[in-house]
Amino acid sequence: MLLHLPHILTPEEVLQAQTLLATAPWGDGRVGAGEQAKQVKNNEQLDHDCAEAQTIRQMVLRGLDRNTTFFSAALPKKVFPPRLNRYGGDTNFYGNHIDGSVRYMPDGSGRLRTDVSCTVFLSNPEDYDGGELCIADTFGEQAVKLQAGHAVLYPGTSLHQVKPVTRGHRLACFFWVESMVRSDGQRRLLYELDMNLLGLRQRHGDSAQTTAMTGVYHNLLRMWADT
Ligand code: NI
Repeated sequence: MLLHLPHILTPEEVLQAQTLLATAPWGDGRVGAGEQAKQVKNNEQLDHDCAEAQTIRQMVLRGLDRNTTFFSAALPKKVFPPRLNRYGGDTNFYGNHIDGSVRYMPDGSGRLRTDVSCTVFLSNPEDYDGGELCIADTFGEQAVKLQAGHAVLYPGTSLHQVKPVTRGHRLACFFWVESMVRSDGQRRLLYELDMNLLGLRQRHGDSAQTTAMTGVYHNLLRMWADT
């Protein structure tokens, strides 16, 4: 499932992130990348522990906490601490790849399976050319380029790339989620059930049927979730 999550960050938070990133100590994005990724990766990243990365990471995690759609779609068990990257100039693309399936948490707290990938766009789309995140799914390739502060969720199993940025810079925050529900198909069913129940309740209020269907939702989640 590929999902657009609008307004993960407020306009004020976006501005604060852009200001911090304008003077941040960017480094080679290939550091820490796997062998296949290294051959196609050509961008910049911020060191995990630098002050700018820590401030923006907390901001994004707060934004995710406020966002009930993120919870419903990703059903997060563990969230990898969000990282920051930049594309532009001579380091302006990331060719086709699949993200590593298992990652070590930077704080040594164990491993995370990358079920869901997320990118939060931090640059205004009018400030750069190119830089689309192209994700291959069962319906073909989707090119995603969102407003600053908006995010896209997509399955960790997808082949994807960032097209060359030919003007300006593209700033983004990215991370992975290990979901309580490993299967993308099962997550999608739960998300659709949850969203439609929400819509029914908003339209008609609670009823015996919405209560029973909420029970179905939770019983499916109980069957499929690994907490
Ligand atoms: Ni990737």
